[in-house]
Formats: sequence, C-alpha cells, structure tokens
Amino acid sequence: MTTIKDLADLKKRGQKWAMLTSYEMMTAEIFDEAGIPVLLVGDSAGNNFFGEKNTIPVTVDELLPLTRAVARSVKAALVVADLPFGSYESGPDLALATSIRFFKEAGAHAVKLEGAHTDAIKKLVSSGIPVMGHIGLTPQSVHQLGGFKVQGRENPEALIAAAKAIEAAGAFAIVLEMVPEDLAIQITKELSIPTIGIGAGNGTDAQVLVWTDAFGLTKNPPKLAKAYRNLRAELISGAKEFAKEVSAGEFPSEAQTFK
Ligand code: KIV
Repeated sequence: MTTIKDLADLKKRGQKWAMLTSYEMMTAEIFDEAGIPVLLVGDSAGNNFFGEKNTIPVTVDELLPLTRAVARSVKAALVVADLPFGSYESGPDLALATSIRFFKEAGAHAVKLEGAHTDAIKKLVSSGIPVMGHIGLTPQSVHQLGGFKVQGRENPEALIAAAKAIEAAGAFAIVLEMVPEDLAIQITKELSIPTIGIGAGNGTDAQVLVWTDAFGLTKNPPKLAKAYRNLRAELISGAKEFAKEVSAGEFPSEAQTFK
C-alpha cells in the first residue's frame, strides 16, 4: 500500500505522481489497478456525484459511504477523505471527531482539509491521522473569495506563509489549487512535503484531477482540466445503441438468453 513515507521519498527522488478523485467502487478499483497511488474522496462529490452547484452542501454523512466504497475497493492506493465544509473549522476537537469517523466508519487512510487550520492539523497528526492541506482556491470558501478565481497574485507572501505553516503543523502533502505557476514552483521548492497542483502549472510534485473532468464526463469542464477520454460521448452513443436495439427487438439475442 502507498504510504505517506512513499510520497515523501518520491519528492526526494524528484519523481512526479498523479492523484485522482473517486467517489465509488468501480473507479476506485480501476484507478487503483492503473497504479494511481493516491485517491481522493473529494467533496467535489457535491458537483460531480450529488448534483449540487458546489461543494458547500456536502455533509459528513454523505461522504462516509462514498469513502467506505473507495477504501474497500483499493489494494494499493492511499485513500484520502475530504473533510466537508462545517465539519472541522470550529476547532481541533471537531476536526478530530470528524476524522475519527472517516477512519473508523469508512476506512480512510488520511484526511484533507482546506485552509491553514494549523491547530486542527497538529491535533490530527498527534492523534495518528495523516493530513493533506489545501490552499489557493479553496472551493468551500468560494463566496468569501468572490468566485472561482486564481489565488495568490496580489499577496503571494500570504500563500507562502500558509503553506509553510501547514507543513510546520505536520501535514504530509498540500494541494495548491488555481495558483500562478511561478508561485507554485516557489512553494514547491520551499517545502519539504509534496505539493499537489490543480490549475497550478507544471512545477508541483504531483497533479490531481477530478476524475469526471479527466475522462470527459463533465459537461462544462474547467480550463485547468484535460480530458484524457470522452466518456460522455461514449456513454451517450452506447445508451442510444441499447435503446435502438431494444426498439428493434434485437436485444436480448441468443447470447443473453436462458433456455
Ligand atoms: O474535492 C476535490 O476534488 C478536491 C480536489 C480538487 C483537490 O479538493
């Protein structure tokens, strides 16, 4: 199984790695088989699984069964559970109680939280829970940030300070979302823990994509994503073919029929 020590070693060796989101058993099994070392059960399940507009309405009770499905389905990947909005901000004790639920009830191997909540990170790490940080565009704060905009252009020092504080608190890795490439490179050089970019250019230690963006299911994918396949078109044409065969009386054929 991939461990946080393996990820630290990859940074030391200058070897880049990939992380994908996953929200259920099939993609977890497939991405694990493909050798993706880290799977994130992101609160992006809000807009990619639950049909919400953004990540804000997602609850712990919604993410727990998704995390359990992913954790049950991997052989090697490290499974990171996203702590949803409202489940950690009020302090270290709440962050610990929520994370314990993801560990005990869902089998997560690590948690991720947005922002420089350093006291919460320290509490989790000292309780044996590996923590992934997340700065830059933090979608749970989209209303505070005034939209899905690139972060760190006006005050890069604040972002660098947040990254260092999160590392000092004990996080094992940090997501940099929608950050100018030069700033992401600088943070990556100044931290000893791996940086994971999304919309942060090509200089981070790792890259993460939301799986539905990465494989062409998302209707209007964000600029930061690349679609490696067009599953939306595949599924539409497959569904049409199935419906056509049913109306023509061609499905099921002998091959799918019991006598
Ligand atoms: O929820 C999520 O999918 C994320 C990634 C975009 C990093 O936080």
